[in-house]
Amino acid sequence: MARIALIGCGNIATIIAEKGTSIEIDAVYDLDQERARDFARGVGARPCTSFEELLSSDAPLIVEAASPKAVQQHARDVVRAGKDLMVMSVGGLADAEFRKCLIEDASASGVHIYIPSGAIGGLDAISSARVGKLEMVVLETRKPPQSLGVEADEATVIFEGTPAEAIERFPRNINVAVTLAVMAGDEKVRVRIIADPLVSHNIHTVRVMGETGTITMEFDNAPSPNKATSLIAGYSAVALIERIFATVQC
Ligand SMILES: NC(=O)c1ccc[n+]([C@@H]2O[C@H](COP(=O)([O-])OP(=O)(O)OC[C@H]3O[C@@H](n4cnc5c(N)ncnc54)[C@H](O)[C@@H]3O)[C@@H](O)[C@H]2O)c1
Repeated sequence: MARIALIGCGNIATIIAEKGTSIEIDAVYDLDQERARDFARGVGARPCTSFEELLSSDAPLIVEAASPKAVQQHARDVVRAGKDLMVMSVGGLADAEFRKCLIEDASASGVHIYIPSGAIGGLDAISSARVGKLEMVVLETRKPPQSLGVEADEATVIFEGTPAEAIERFPRNINVAVTLAVMAGDEKVRVRIIADPLVSHNIHTVRVMGETGTITMEFDNAPSPNKATSLIAGYSAVALIERIFATVQC
């Protein structure tokens, strides 16, 4: 059984609870205490009224599924307390200096930081390409204009830049840009965001160029029931938690 404690009791947490048949949720914490209580009651977990109380859980893995701010506030305390950490709000790792400190803390404590593939995939292929000379990774994200908070009558490029700039402009929309930055290095990743009134799903195209050749991957993601998140992002959290605790790793 995979034993975890959860920061955040929203959409991703609900998917973990519903789909993670081999995952036991020991304790939960949410800024919205009523939500934490309701969620905890539903899954038989302990609701915590503070982050410190959550940290006292004996679950070896703390899963953050809350917000980039929660990552900045709590990630270093989690790893310093000797617990593994899974980060869903990867945008919270956009600041390279913060990321470096977090990794140093985790290394000093001998614990791991896990980042799920989220709304994309193929991170195995990118890490293989990185063994050789990786030249560039381009992420093109196409979303309905309303989900980006803009208006557009036709497909319009509304952003081009680095992952850190992208997450600053679109903090809830482009976590995967930072996932790629962590994988490939900030300086290797370029992001283009297109507001497209003709699409109903979020579509991410990842192109990787390097010594191993060119890899092109497209993810046309069905939404989760609350429409705010891609279903595959929630499922990637379940899959990674189960993989962490699995006997066979692949
Ligand atoms: N990596 C990816 O590809 C990917 C994909 C989808 C979502 N996400 C990220 O995962 C996170 C969770 O997504 P969701 O759809 O479940 O969101 P949600 O809004 O449904 O739920 C988030 C919950 O966290 C709580 N929360 C927010 N800040 C908190 C804090 N500082 N401490 C404790 N609780 C806090 C909220 O009250 C809410 O209940 C978001 O940051 C989202 O951007 C990442």
